[in-house]
Amino acid sequence: MGAENEDYKKKERIVLAAILVFAFLSVASVLVTLTYYCYLRFKLSKRVKTQKQKIDYEEKASNVANIQVSTERGLQVFTFKQLHSATGGFGKSNVIGRGAFGQVYRGVLQNGRKVAIKLMDQTGKQGEDEFTAEVELLGRLSSQYLLSLIGYCSDTNHKLLVYEFMANGGLQEHLYPISGNRTISSNLSWETRLRIALEAAKGLEYLHEHVSPPVIHRDFKSSNILLDKNFHAKVSDFGLAKLGPEKAGGHVSTRVLGTQGYVAPEYALTGHLTTKSDVYSYGVVLLELLTGRVPVDMKRPSGEGVLVSWALPQLTDRDKVGEIMDPVLEGQYSMKEVVQVAAIAAMCVQPEADYRPLMADVVQSLVPLVKHHRPSRAGMLQSPKA
Ligand SMILES: Nc1ncnc2c1ncn2[C@@H]1O[C@H](COP(=O)(O)OP(=O)(O)OP(=O)(O)O)[C@@H](O)[C@H]1O
Ligand SMILES: [Mg+2]
Repeated sequence: MGAENEDYKKKERIVLAAILVFAFLSVASVLVTLTYYCYLRFKLSKRVKTQKQKIDYEEKASNVANIQVSTERGLQVFTFKQLHSATGGFGKSNVIGRGAFGQVYRGVLQNGRKVAIKLMDQTGKQGEDEFTAEVELLGRLSSQYLLSLIGYCSDTNHKLLVYEFMANGGLQEHLYPISGNRTISSNLSWETRLRIALEAAKGLEYLHEHVSPPVIHRDFKSSNILLDKNFHAKVSDFGLAKLGPEKAGGHVSTRVLGTQGYVAPEYALTGHLTTKSDVYSYGVVLLELLTGRVPVDMKRPSGEGVLVSWALPQLTDRDKVGEIMDPVLEGQYSMKEVVQVAAIAAMCVQPEADYRPLMADVVQSLVPLVKHHRPSRAGMLQSPKA
């Protein structure tokens, strides 16, 4: 009985040991599986993290690239304080002109660059965001025939535009220079006038045909053609009419109405604005260059007050076209050249907008005339041709 009992206990110990070994192995295998599972999770999460970091980095990198692009192509944003000190506190001695926007000041930026700064008279009416968006859009246009907008300041109380400085100012100052109270003769040579006509035409051509959607200048005139120190021309104030101050008491902005004497008839009558309205204004500037007369001068004898009405009938008459020419140009031009330029002007100012040429056509017609002349070093009057 005792031996049997002993045998039974031995078997019991063996079974218990087997159970323990089995249990231990089960726990160990669960632990191994768990550890392996944790290891896999860890590796996976590491990979996801690396990938995420990579994506983040790429995103950041592309953002950095975007920022670089926008600072490269975009505009500098100035504080009012910076522009205040650039213009010597907007001192009177730094005023270089005045227009519909307000005063224009000469200024020097911290980096020594000379600039022209326009200080808008009326603020608050034009929403800050609208002003900024419009200015940034115009700042992206870039052509050697357009005045560069360098930057702006737009806070609740101040709206300023910062442009490259043009040493010889507006074309009108050279066509009808004023000394004291009297108008003196212009000293812009025929050759320089032709080149200015071509460069201004290229500026408008860029706005109309090289930009999508096209930009209509809206206020093309001789004071918006600026001349650098070598009398090369650049078109200014393109598309800015939208930002102009409202006309007192009216619902249409004065600048949208354009400037007297330059506005195309269909635009004046219907308010319908197209690139052909700019072509008309360009024709008026061409007439100013030919005749040296202002677009509207009611002090002139009857029938001569409005430049277009007075000049148009003579523009296409070979025998009479010489009579409209600026007397100071006498001897500098050939009649062949005058007839050609007069024909371009006549097409530009014709009342029917559809029949006016494209600016690309105007450029094409002027190129041979300008090439024909040697480039002048200065814009001043030269000795008459033999
Ligand atoms: N970038 C510039 N560099 C040098 N002079 C400038 C510059 N911008 C403007 N001016 C001067 O300031 C004058 C006034 O310019 P502004 O554009 O304000 O008026 P405007 O052309 O006469 O009329 P509008 O406001 O209708 O365009 C110009 O005639 C020119 O003499
Ligand atoms: Mg102007």
